[in-house]
Order: sequence, then C-alpha cells, then structure tokens
Amino acid sequence: MKEILIAPSILSASFTYLENELDEVFKAGAKVLHYDVMDGHFVNNISFGSHILSTINTKHNLINDVHLMVTDPNKYIESFVKAKADSITVHYESFSNEIDLINTINLIKSYGVKVGVAIKPKTKIDVLFNFIKDINLVLIMSVEPGFGGQKFITESYKKIEDLQAFRKKKNLKFLIEVDGGVNDSNSHKLINLGCDILVCGSYIFNAANKEEAIRKLKE
Ligand code: DX5
Ligand code: ZN
Repeated sequence: MKEILIAPSILSASFTYLENELDEVFKAGAKVLHYDVMDGHFVNNISFGSHILSTINTKHNLINDVHLMVTDPNKYIESFVKAKADSITVHYESFSNEIDLINTINLIKSYGVKVGVAIKPKTKIDVLFNFIKDINLVLIMSVEPGFGGQKFITESYKKIEDLQAFRKKKNLKFLIEVDGGVNDSNSHKLINLGCDILVCGSYIFNAANKEEAIRKLKE
C-alpha cells in the first residue's frame, strides 16, 4: 500500500504563531513541509527565502519540499541546498528552453537533492516527457501559482489521470504531487487518480482541528 504524504504549505500559516502552527501540523502527523518561494516576478507575490527553512529546521525534522516560483531558479538553488531542502521543484515555465531546464535539473541532483518540475494549469504534461525519467517528482499546479486559498481547477483531474497512465505505461518512478485548492472534498479522487503528495495550505491552516483535517484527507 503506497503512503500518501500530506504537505502543509506554510504560505498559509500564521507567521505570528508560526511555531505553534508547526507544532500542530507536526503533532497531526505531517511529515513534509511545503515552502512556496515567490519572487514577485514569476508570480505577483513575494513570500520568503531560505532563511525560513533554516530557522524551522532548528526545531522540526520534516521533509523540506521547496517550490520555487521564481524567474531565475539557478540563483536560489545553492542557498536552499545549504538550508537543507530535501527536494527542490522548479517551474517548467521559468525556462526559455529545455536545455537550461535540464541543466538546472542536473545542478539540483549534483547536490544529492531530489528534483521536481512543476507545470502551471495551462501547461500540458507532454512538455515533461523528454526529461521526466530523470526527475523525482512532477508538481501539478491545480491553481494559478501565486496565492493560497484559491479554488481547485477541476481540469487538473484529467492531467493527473493522464500523467499516471504515462507513468504506468513507461514503468517510471517519479512521484505525482498536486498543489492548490486541495481539501477533503477532492483529496480522495486525487489519491485514486495516482497522486502521492497532496499540498494543502488554507485547508489545513484555517482548520480549527488540524489533526482531524489531515486525517479527513486520507480516510
Ligand atoms: C500557490 C502555491 C500553493 C498554495 C497552496 O502558488 O504553490 O502551494 O500555497 O495553498 P492552498 O492549499 O490554500 O491552495
Ligand atoms: Zn506550492
């Protein structure tokens, strides 16, 4: 039975009470933390840098899943590696050509860090096929990147279904992660379609009982 990982996105956490919020999701059984890094250029929002990752790491030993929504990912790879990122996901759309993307994939792997490629809702999964065997995870954005609390884009289901079919046909091992508007009303279908990691921001951090919220995603 494959393990489904829940990755709370700290973008939606209260930064006033960040320590309490993290204690709660840790106690609730979350093993992964999703860091939404935004540069205000690739997306119209600015979030945080690798220092947040370093400070959180001093207390919690969670899997650090870094999602770079930035125009020039290469500028940030080394600092997130130093901050102990376990996986770094770059956007396909951050690159003007496939060679540069493949070079960044190899750069991340050269540090012994897992590498993911994310695609926006309007980007087709076909763009990944040339290098998909060389990456550890595909991040399917089910909202337009930039903000938490948006509505799940239902066309994402078909993308995930097609990606899972491709993975099965080619007997590949990359993980499928879905990100944006995920909650207990769509999580079961997403898991059945083949998702391995569910990123949740507002659903978890707005929940009165985080433990129950996380449990309801999978039960
Ligand atoms: C959006 C981010 C998502 C978002 C998830 O650009 O990549 O990770 O924070 O938040 P919710 O679950 O509220 O959509
Ligand atoms: Zn994200």
